[in-house]
Amino acid sequence: MSTKTPDVVTSAAATLRRLDLHDPGDEALFRRAHAEVQVPAEHWLLGERAAPRSADDLLTAARLETTYETTRGVALGTNGAPVGLWMVELPLRDNLDNAYIGITVAPGHRRRGIGTAMLDHVEGLVRATGRTVVQTWDGMPTDPQAEDPTTAFATARGYTSSLPSLRSDLDLDPPGAAGIERALAPLDAELDGRFDVATARRESTDGTYRLVTWWGAVPEEHLEDRAALMQRMSTDAPAEDMAIEEEDWDGARVREDEAICRAQGKTVVETAALHVPSGRLVAFTMLAVPKATPDLASQWDTLVLTEHRGARLGAAVKAANLRALVERFPALRRVTTYNAASNAPMLRVNFAMGYHPVLRTTCWQRRLETTDAHE
Ligand SMILES: CC(C)(COP(=O)(O)OP(=O)(O)OC[C@H]1O[C@@H](n2cnc3c(N)ncnc32)[C@H](O)[C@@H]1OP(=O)(O)O)[C@@H](O)C(=O)NCCC(=O)NCCS
Repeated sequence: MSTKTPDVVTSAAATLRRLDLHDPGDEALFRRAHAEVQVPAEHWLLGERAAPRSADDLLTAARLETTYETTRGVALGTNGAPVGLWMVELPLRDNLDNAYIGITVAPGHRRRGIGTAMLDHVEGLVRATGRTVVQTWDGMPTDPQAEDPTTAFATARGYTSSLPSLRSDLDLDPPGAAGIERALAPLDAELDGRFDVATARRESTDGTYRLVTWWGAVPEEHLEDRAALMQRMSTDAPAEDMAIEEEDWDGARVREDEAICRAQGKTVVETAALHVPSGRLVAFTMLAVPKATPDLASQWDTLVLTEHRGARLGAAVKAANLRALVERFPALRRVTTYNAASNAPMLRVNFAMGYHPVLRTTCWQRRLETTDAHE
């Protein structure tokens, strides 16, 4: 995309500039915009629960990733200060009709047309690639009375909510291992009789399943299975109206993700369920802790293959993974998770553990028509 698009576009609302993240001057501008736009925007929405990805994290991902091509840019006000941030991310291995975008305006600069200028620009960039599905994830307050610029802006621009979801937080009380044990009581109750207490619930009582935990890198003997599980995430997780095709995963793609997390200084722990008779992995879950906030963890993907559902493998891998994590991060005080709002069984378990909703979110989606008026 970068070779075909203009570096600078000026509109009445702002000057939009594409950034070359390999250039030190542009990197500095990105860091400034991140601090002055992205961080305040997340604090505006979430208060002390805001945990924006660090600028370092984003820069590292953009430089190392080969699965996606990411273009980032800023909106500058008349005095040259950043007032907005935008990005376009193109999947390169699969989902070739899709483009993920991001548009953020600094809270003190809203309702002056900057968001509109950035979205016009970004949609134009997407259209130039020939892609037809534009998607963006953004958060809305859970309080129906609170101001919700995202829904107003997105719907005014023809975007529809394709996968209503919730961010829920588990605030450990008390922090650390005691809080985890308390939260896990409902999961342990579900595992009762199925997973052996004598093996710290790491083996099923009938010997069919055994849990395996690793840090940072999938053991070589499980690499292909783990890639297959990631591929199944893209077809088996609820998608509702969100346009998503089956992703294309192999061991190299898994290793690339691991290398990016390593370069970001992120700690990732995974627990998988091994089906003992076949020697194959049939379920897995991931937790990640960013370098900058070692007391905050994110629950990433969890999947149980359909043919192995009903054996409480989801609860088993999640409980074992949280116990592993808190051993290494004894000051852990919060775990954050995202679920489809329609996923009642998952939400029931999470709420029983003490998770509570802190944000509504969705994949806002729009299909671009070749005859679109907006250019
Ligand atoms: C949504 C967002 C990008 C809007 O940026 P902005 O610069 O304020 O947008 P604009 O000034 O171009 O507004 C365009 C129209 O969107 C609608 N809109 C935007 N904010 C609104 C609000 N708080 N309440 C009601 N309508 C709103 C209005 O129709 C507005 O037109 P108007 O001001 O003439 O009434 C900004 O609030 C933001 O960064 N939010 C967080 C991230 C996000 O939600 N990104 C967009 C995802 S699709």
